[in-house]
Amino acid sequence: MISEPCCAAAMARLRFLRCRRLLLPNLCHNQQRFNRCHSLLNRTAGTTSASGCGATSSRSYSAPHAGSLTHIDRQRLREMNYIDPEGPVTGLSEEFRIVKRQLLLSAKGGKGVEPIDRGERILICSAHPNEGKTFCAINLALSMAQEKDNRVLLVDADFAKPSVLGRLGIEPARGLMDALADPTINVEDLVIHTDVNGLAILPAGAQTNQDTEYLAAERTAKLIDQLTRHDPSRIIIFDSPPALAASPASVLALLVGQCVMVVRADETTDSALRDALSLLSGCDHIQLLLNRAKFSPTGRKFGNYYGYGA
Ligand SMILES: Nc1ncnc2c1ncn2[C@@H]1O[C@H](COP(=O)(O)OP(=O)(O)OP(=O)(O)O)[C@@H](O)[C@H]1O
Ligand SMILES: [Mg+2]
Repeated sequence: MISEPCCAAAMARLRFLRCRRLLLPNLCHNQQRFNRCHSLLNRTAGTTSASGCGATSSRSYSAPHAGSLTHIDRQRLREMNYIDPEGPVTGLSEEFRIVKRQLLLSAKGGKGVEPIDRGERILICSAHPNEGKTFCAINLALSMAQEKDNRVLLVDADFAKPSVLGRLGIEPARGLMDALADPTINVEDLVIHTDVNGLAILPAGAQTNQDTEYLAAERTAKLIDQLTRHDPSRIIIFDSPPALAASPASVLALLVGQCVMVVRADETTDSALRDALSLLSGCDHIQLLLNRAKFSPTGRKFGNYYGYGA
C-alpha cells in the first residue's frame, strides 16, 4: 500500500498529442484531464566487461540461464511503489490502466481511431532528471504486461545512467548498446524474459561516449524493426534519459511512434517543457503525463472501489 501523496503522485494525466502548440495554462489548471491540442511546438556466460563501442566504463555481467525466466521480487516492487502484477487493484494500478489504454488505442487503433505509425514503440521522456521517467516506464510496462493481447519489452535506453535492472533487482547484463556496437550479436539473445507474465527487458548494455551516434545509425532502426518482427504483439517501451540533459532522447524520438513526456508537478517549468518538446519534435505524437500531483480538483481517487484500499 502506498501513501496518499504517492497515489496522487502516480496520477498522471496524458495531455496532448500531435503537439504543435502547448496549452500550458491548461497544464497548470486542468491537470487531471486528458486534452488534445494542436500546437506550434511543434543479457551471456561468465563475467565480461563493457567494451566494443568506445566504452568509457565497464560493468560486470552475470549470466542468466538460457531459456529461464528471471525472477522479479514482488515484495521489492511493492516497497518501491511499483505495481505488483499479482497484487490487488490499487490507486496506482488504476491510474496506469488509464494511461495505458490511451497509448494502446493509439498503437493498435479501434473505436474509429486509426493506429499510428510505429505506435507500438513508446518513449518515456522528461525535460530534467528525477521527474519520474523510470518510475512511469516500469509501472506502465508492468501494467501493459497484464494485457491479454500484448507482450511488453521494456528497453533501458538511458545508456549513461541505466536504472531499470537495478530497480527490478536484476543483475547487470549486456544490452542494446552492445548489440548496436557488434553486428554479430543477435539483440534477441540479450532480451531478459521475466517471471512477470508478458514482461521482457532489454538492458542498456555497455556504456559509451558515442551513444547518440550509435542510435542515429541506420543499423539502429533495423535492429528495432527486428525486435518488432520477432514478436509483432510487442509493445516496446523505452526509458529515456532526460531531454535537456542528454542528446540520445532527441534521436530516440525519431525511432518511436509515441512519446510520453513526464511532467513533474510543481517542478517542471513551462520553458523547460517547451524546450524539451522542441527537442522531441521528431515524434509527432507526444502526450504529457503529470507525475507527483498532490491533489485532484475533482476528488478523483481510484482503488477503494475494489474494496482493497489504495
Ligand atoms: N509518482 C511517484 N510516486 C512515488 N515515487 C515516485 C514517483 N515518481 C517518481 N518517484 C520516485 O522518484 C525517484 C526519481 O524517479 P525516477 O528515477 O523514475 O526519475 P527519472 O526521471 O527516471 O530520473 P533520471 O532522469 O535520473 O533517470 C525514484 O526514487 C522514483 O521511485
Ligand atoms: Mg530514469
